[in-house]
Amino acid sequence: MSFLSKTLDRVKPSPTIAVSNLAMELKAQGRDIISLGAGEPDFDTPEHIRAAGIAAINAGKTRYTAVDGIPELKQAICAKFKRDNGLDYAPGQVSVGTGGKQVLYNALMATLNPGDEVVIPAPYWVSYPDMVLLAGGTPVFIEATLENAFKITPDQLEAAITPATKWFLFNSPSNPTGAGYSRDELKALTDVLMRHPHVWVLTDDMYEHLAYDDFKFCTPAQVEPGLYDRTLTVNGVSKAYAMTGWRIGYAAGPKPLIDAMRKIQSQSTSNPCTISQWAAVEALNGTHDFIAPNNAMFARRRDLVVKALNAIDGVTCPVPEGAFYVYPSIAGLIGKTTPAGTLIADDETFARALLEDTGVAVVFGAAFGLSPNFRISYATSDTALAEACDRIQRFCAALA
Ligand SMILES: Cc1ncc(COP(=O)(O)O)c(C=O)c1O
Repeated sequence: MSFLSKTLDRVKPSPTIAVSNLAMELKAQGRDIISLGAGEPDFDTPEHIRAAGIAAINAGKTRYTAVDGIPELKQAICAKFKRDNGLDYAPGQVSVGTGGKQVLYNALMATLNPGDEVVIPAPYWVSYPDMVLLAGGTPVFIEATLENAFKITPDQLEAAITPATKWFLFNSPSNPTGAGYSRDELKALTDVLMRHPHVWVLTDDMYEHLAYDDFKFCTPAQVEPGLYDRTLTVNGVSKAYAMTGWRIGYAAGPKPLIDAMRKIQSQSTSNPCTISQWAAVEALNGTHDFIAPNNAMFARRRDLVVKALNAIDGVTCPVPEGAFYVYPSIAGLIGKTTPAGTLIADDETFARALLEDTGVAVVFGAAFGLSPNFRISYATSDTALAEACDRIQRFCAALA
C-alpha cells in the first residue's frame, strides 16, 4: 500500500508468527499444546523486586523521569559493571531504555547510515537483522556452524569485515543456541577487532547470569580493554531476574554515543516506566541469592532435553553453555515423510508438522538464520519438558 513507508519494504514480517498463530488456533480448538517457544523464565519476579515496585507506586514515584534513567538506577548499573565485569563507567556513560530491545534499536538508529554494514553471527536473535534494516544499514552474516558448537572463528570474522563495517554485533550466551564464548575464544575475536579500528562492538550480554557448569561469562571490553572506547555493552534485567514485562534494559559506552541515543529516546518514548526503574534498582543492588538455585534448575532441564534429543536418530544437539535454549540440528530428518504423508522438506515444515501432529510448539531455525534446526526454550516445567521430549521422540521415530 503506497500510504505506508518504503522503509517497511526492507523488513520481513516475523517468520515465527505463522507457527505461534497456528499454536493459538489449535489451543482454541481444545488441543493439548505444549509451547516451548517462549523466550522468558517460567517463574515470577523475585519477591523483593516486586516489593520495590509496589513501594515506588506507594511513594508516588509515578511521574516522568530523566529521559534515559533515574540517577539511582544509573549508579546501580555502574556498580554492576564494576562488580560483575570489572568495567568502569560513569553515570553519564549509561543509558536506560524500555528493554534491551529499545537500547539496541537506539544504538543502531543513532549510528547507521545507508551502506553501513553490521556483522552478525548466525544463528542470531530474530530482531537484529530487521533492526539494522530499519535503521538503514546492511546486515552481513557469518555462519556459526554446528561443527564449531555454534561459535564463529576469528578467520570468519576477519573475512566478514570490510571498510563499510560499522558494528560487530556479539551475543554470548546466545539466543537461539545457548552457545557461550570462553575468555580465550572471545580474546581470539577481539584480537581481530583490534586490527580494525573503524569497527565498533555492540555486545548483547542479556544472558550473562544464565551460565552453567564451569562456564565463566566474559564481555568484549573486559577481555580486551583496548576496545573500551568503541564498545557499547548492552544488558538488562529481563532474563535473569524474570522481569521481561517490566521492560528495563541498559547500556554503557562512550558518552557521545550515549548522548545520541538519548536524543532518539527523547523524541520517541522518553523515560522507561518509572516504577520499573525503581524495581530494577532493587534487582541490581539487592540479593542475587536466587540466581544459583535457578541456574541449577535450568542446567538440569537443559541436560534432560539435550539427552532426549540426542537419543533421536537424525537429530544432533550440542550442550550449550548458557541461556535457556537448545538448537538441535535435524539434518538427518530432512527428506523424510510423516505417517500422514507430509514431506519434511525443511525446518519450517518440521515445526508445523510437529505442532499439528503432537501439539508441541517450537520455533524453526530459518527464523534465526541457520537451518535445518529448531529452537526449544527449556524455561518451562520439568513435567511439560519430559512430555514434550517424549512426543518429539515419537514423532521423529515415526518418520520414514
Ligand atoms: C539476545 C536478546 N537480546 C535482547 C533481548 C531483549 O530483551 P528485553 O527487551 O526484554 O530487555 C532478548 C529477548 O528475547 C534477547 O533474547
